[in-house]
Amino acid sequence: MDNKTIYILAIESSCDDTSAAVLCGNRTLSNIVATQKIHEEYGGVVPELASRAHQQNIVPVVHQALAKANIDKKQLSAIAFTRGPGLMGSLLVGTSFAKSLSLGLGIPLIEVNHMQAHILSHFIEEENYKMPSFPFLAMTISGGHTQVVLVKDYFDMEILGESLDDAVGEAYDKSAKILGLPYPGGPLVDKYAQLGNPKAFPFPKPKVDGLNFSFSGLKTSILYFIQRETKNNPNFIAENLNDICASIQYTIINILMDKIKKAVKQTGITHIAIGGGVSANSGIRQALKKAEEKWGWTTYIPKFEYCTDNAAMIGIVGYLKYKEMDFVDQSITAKARYVIE
Ligand code: KG4
Ligand code: ZN
Repeated sequence: MDNKTIYILAIESSCDDTSAAVLCGNRTLSNIVATQKIHEEYGGVVPELASRAHQQNIVPVVHQALAKANIDKKQLSAIAFTRGPGLMGSLLVGTSFAKSLSLGLGIPLIEVNHMQAHILSHFIEEENYKMPSFPFLAMTISGGHTQVVLVKDYFDMEILGESLDDAVGEAYDKSAKILGLPYPGGPLVDKYAQLGNPKAFPFPKPKVDGLNFSFSGLKTSILYFIQRETKNNPNFIAENLNDICASIQYTIINILMDKIKKAVKQTGITHIAIGGGVSANSGIRQALKKAEEKWGWTTYIPKFEYCTDNAAMIGIVGYLKYKEMDFVDQSITAKARYVIE
């Protein structure tokens, strides 16, 4: 089989981004993402609105992906789609679309686990990008998940630890909401954090055994802190925004780095990859670069395009499964809870 003639159309619709991509072998030809703005005014993702927006976006987004790749749908080898985990209504839109198109075109259908895709996005071929070799540790940090995963092979993964409550992206977004910042607040906290003093306001770090995480206590302590300070000074947030954000970021990055250090100690593996929306964060990217110099780790940090939800990462899994002829039939259904293994 010649990789140059394998064209995969990939669809991602698990949360609030409608995305379609075309891959040729392990290279991205197009990766279109329509981010739904509607949720901003509600301060978080509204599932019903998300699925409606996916329905409106999916056809134009797929058209755009094919056009940008300069590929006719008749040239496609297979269709890959996100089966889960995610919001059921949102997943159903992508799943139904992919099933119908595969039936219409008479080409294979490939189901993809979204969390596995965040990890396997490191296998998209890019100029000057070295792919990880097995085994390696992956930390998936997103709006819905926080996991430390031992990656033994493409489809042989073991979750070593995960969040017992809020995901790290949720901690960012909820802290941002307390500060009056719009959704999703993670990138804004990151932006202001770079201008502030990370040691200005110390926040407690949770004590969680093993490689599991907990972020809900941090959110509560930030809430109480802000309530206390604004009682004394109503302008407290505006006057200290950079320092507050830097202090939140410092605490979160310390929590993540502590766990990854523990995972390295436990497994002896020093090859670390990150994935998911929070891997776009400047703090975690810098901390990992420092760890490379200090402890000789090898770190794999995705391009910004592949950090937040996108269909190219679904496409690379599609390509890897296509080579194994790992296809599904029309009886496949979406899976809101879908654990990687
Ligand atoms: O992977 P993703 O796009 O969607 C999920 O699968 O959840 O991750 C979205 C999350 C949001 O919580 C968003 O605030 C966070 O990633 N995020 C960031 C940054 N960019 C995105 N958090 C901190 N710093 C960033 N630069
Ligand atoms: Zn994601």
